[in-house]
Amino acid sequence: MIKRFFFPSLVAISIVVAPIARSQSFPLDRTKQGMVASAHPLASQVGLEILKQGGNAIDAAVATTLAISVVEPFSAGIGGGGFMLFYQAQNNEMKALDFRERAPIKATQNLYLDAQGKVRPNASTDGYLAVATPGTIAGLYQAHQQYGKLPWKTVVAPAIELAKTGFPVSHRLTEATEARKFQNAEARKIFTHNGKPYQPGEILKQPELAATLSEIALDPNQFYQGNVAQAIVKDMRANNGLITLEDLKQYRPTWRTPVCGNFRQTRVCSMPPPSSGGVHLLQILNLIGDSDLKSMGWHNPNALHLLIESMRIAYADRATYLGDPDFVKVPVSALISPDYAKIRRREIDPKKAATQVKPGDPAVLQNLSRESTETSHLTIVDRDRNAVSLTFTINLGFGAGIVAQGTGIVLNNEMDDFAIAPNTPNAFGLVGGQANAIAPRKIPLSSMTPTIITENGKLRMAVGAPGGSTIITTVLQTILNVLVYDMDARRAIAASRIHHQWQPDRLMVEQWGFDPLTIEELKRRGHQIQQREKWGNANAIVVLPDGSIEGAADPRGEGVASGY
Ligand code: DON
Repeated sequence: MIKRFFFPSLVAISIVVAPIARSQSFPLDRTKQGMVASAHPLASQVGLEILKQGGNAIDAAVATTLAISVVEPFSAGIGGGGFMLFYQAQNNEMKALDFRERAPIKATQNLYLDAQGKVRPNASTDGYLAVATPGTIAGLYQAHQQYGKLPWKTVVAPAIELAKTGFPVSHRLTEATEARKFQNAEARKIFTHNGKPYQPGEILKQPELAATLSEIALDPNQFYQGNVAQAIVKDMRANNGLITLEDLKQYRPTWRTPVCGNFRQTRVCSMPPPSSGGVHLLQILNLIGDSDLKSMGWHNPNALHLLIESMRIAYADRATYLGDPDFVKVPVSALISPDYAKIRRREIDPKKAATQVKPGDPAVLQNLSRESTETSHLTIVDRDRNAVSLTFTINLGFGAGIVAQGTGIVLNNEMDDFAIAPNTPNAFGLVGGQANAIAPRKIPLSSMTPTIITENGKLRMAVGAPGGSTIITTVLQTILNVLVYDMDARRAIAASRIHHQWQPDRLMVEQWGFDPLTIEELKRRGHQIQQREKWGNANAIVVLPDGSIEGAADPRGEGVASGY
């Protein structure tokens, strides 16, 4: 009886599976040649095909980033900005490209305050005033011009195709659309049926975006000087936005010196200011120092307590010292120095949560200074073991909630990453002061932490994540899971997380990830605990001892690692 039920379905399955199994294109998450891990299966597939065509990590990064801009319009795109860390295997060199958005020239420090000095609700998150000058196209083109192998048109083409022919909507896109409740008619026209979000499985086509991308394929300067620029500026003018043609014309991406430090036997490199990510990742790794986390045991309360107290110290420094290095002096080398970590480590009581953590003493930092600082992440490794770790964003879901008319471009609300008034929390609860105050052409402080790790001069792993303020601690814990606890990439990414950001004084723990005894013990030590369902959408590629690579995308999202 049972056989009769099973037999026909087995035949059916084998008919379907056989051609797939024979196909060369079945993506692997543990393999030898190259791999792309991104937040969407179609984007990973695009990047993989570029690698197979002979493209390098940069070619695949450009194609994957543009594909994400189409299939994840709520998370990141060409109307936003980001950071790329690039490892060149040949000369063991690490490079950091900053293509983050900048405040418009017309922006002022008190842009979001009313006449009484009060914060105007939602002004920095919704609508035209929230938009900062986008950098994604300039950044991708810069990287490609210097390091790409395949023609620019070739790496832009898959995104055009996805925008033109459409793709099946996922539940994440439906949920993000429901949450956004568009006021902007252009966004409503593209992403809803008269206000009703596309449902999972429906095909979303974006003809305007396809046309914009086609212009960019011919000439990327269209975005900053040509037709696309004109359309953005016209829309801004019609809606009291601040961005002018001058803002777009003046936009340039910037190569910056990555921040690097040693952790155990590895060298960890990450994004310098205007991201706070790399600085505080290294600071926390230094605070952990040579504490033997492994023998304490994974998620043992002593190990968790040390992580939490280190996070507190790092985020207190973030609020005071971090900002755009072209505008404020950020004591980067002091903050990432092991000597500074030793001094601050003395503040950590191994048995009790701190109640009065303050930013580091400016005099101490001065002494240690040697120098006068919804989102999507993708990780790529090519056959030569070059690597790209790239995080880019339009900030919150669907950015400012607007699409520049006729362009299909979802515009960011990155202005909210500034400290819009002293000690006024942004959307992620982060506070800041003068170092991150608004100024014309200044870059808002970020937490994005694209990171690449080498060992003995060879690639060891590349990793990154979205999640606003939680990005730094997500990347930190993924790294510890691989380097200290020897987890494979999948487990390292899937493992439950904690997060503390100094203010508010609350320890976020992922639901279902911690047993009640551990939670009780952390409470006993004075931690204020808030259970949250889940956060982050990380991905990573890890090099195994035999030289092969293993990748993983976060089960909290819908991404995949696709290799060949
Ligand atoms: O740059 C930053 O730190 C933020 N704009 C990133 C936003 C983000 O990750 C939203 N994702 N959940």
